[in-house]
Amino acid sequence: MRIDVVSIFPTIFDALEVSLLGKARQTGLLDVRVHDLREFTHDRHRTVDDTPYGGGAGMVMKPEPWGEALDAIVGDADPRPVIVFPSPAGERFTQSIARELSAAPHLVFGCGRYEGIDERVFDYAAEHGDVRLLSLGDYVLNGGEVAVMAMVEAIGRLVPGVVGNPESLVEESHEDGLLEYPSYTKPSVWRDREVPPVLLSGNHGAVASWRREQQLERTRARRPDLLAD
Ligand code: ADE
Repeated sequence: MRIDVVSIFPTIFDALEVSLLGKARQTGLLDVRVHDLREFTHDRHRTVDDTPYGGGAGMVMKPEPWGEALDAIVGDADPRPVIVFPSPAGERFTQSIARELSAAPHLVFGCGRYEGIDERVFDYAAEHGDVRLLSLGDYVLNGGEVAVMAMVEAIGRLVPGVVGNPESLVEESHEDGLLEYPSYTKPSVWRDREVPPVLLSGNHGAVASWRREQQLERTRARRPDLLAD
C-alpha cells in the first residue's frame, strides 16, 4: 500500500519509522512518503495561510500550495487514490472505515492546520480521487497530524502481513461491535489479586462464554451507544 502524507510539520511523522509500521516500511509492505506542504510554495516566507474571506478569527490554508501538492502527488494516478482530510467536521473514523481503507492501494492524507483549508481544495481533490473527511472524535485538535498518525496506524496494521499473527486482529475491541474482554497473564496471584478462576480451568467453552459475557458487560457499562447500534 502506498501512503502519501502532506503536512507543514513533516517531522511529526518520524514516529512512523518505529515499531510494526516501521518494520512494514522496511519490508516494503507500506510505502509511506511524507511531503512538506511548504515545498509547494513560491514566496520568500513559504506562506501557506491567509485571512478568511468574510472575516472571523484565525487563518485559512491557501489553496495554491495544496493544488500543487495534489498535482505532484496524485496527478492522474490510476487507480484513483482515496484522499483523506482529517477534520473535526468530518464523518467519524471507525474500525470499519479503517478496514475499508486498508484495502485501498493508495491513500493520500492532507493535514490541515489553523481554521482549516480553503473549501475549494476539497472540490479539486474530488476530481482526482475519492475524498473522505474523517474525524477522530468529538473534540478539536490543533491540526490533522495527530489524527493522521492514529488513522495510519489503525489502517496500516490491517494491511495483510503488517501484524505477524492475523488472529490477534480478530478478537479486538470494535471488530465485532463490542469492546474487548479483559486479559490476564502470569502470575495467577499478584498483590492479592487473583486471575478469574475460569481462565485457569482449561474449559475452552466456559472461557469463551465468560469472555463473551465480559464483552457485553463492559460494552453496556462503558459504551451503551454501541449496543444501540
Ligand atoms: N483536526 C482537528 N481536530 C480533529 C479531529 N477531532 N479529528 C480529525 N482531525 C482533526
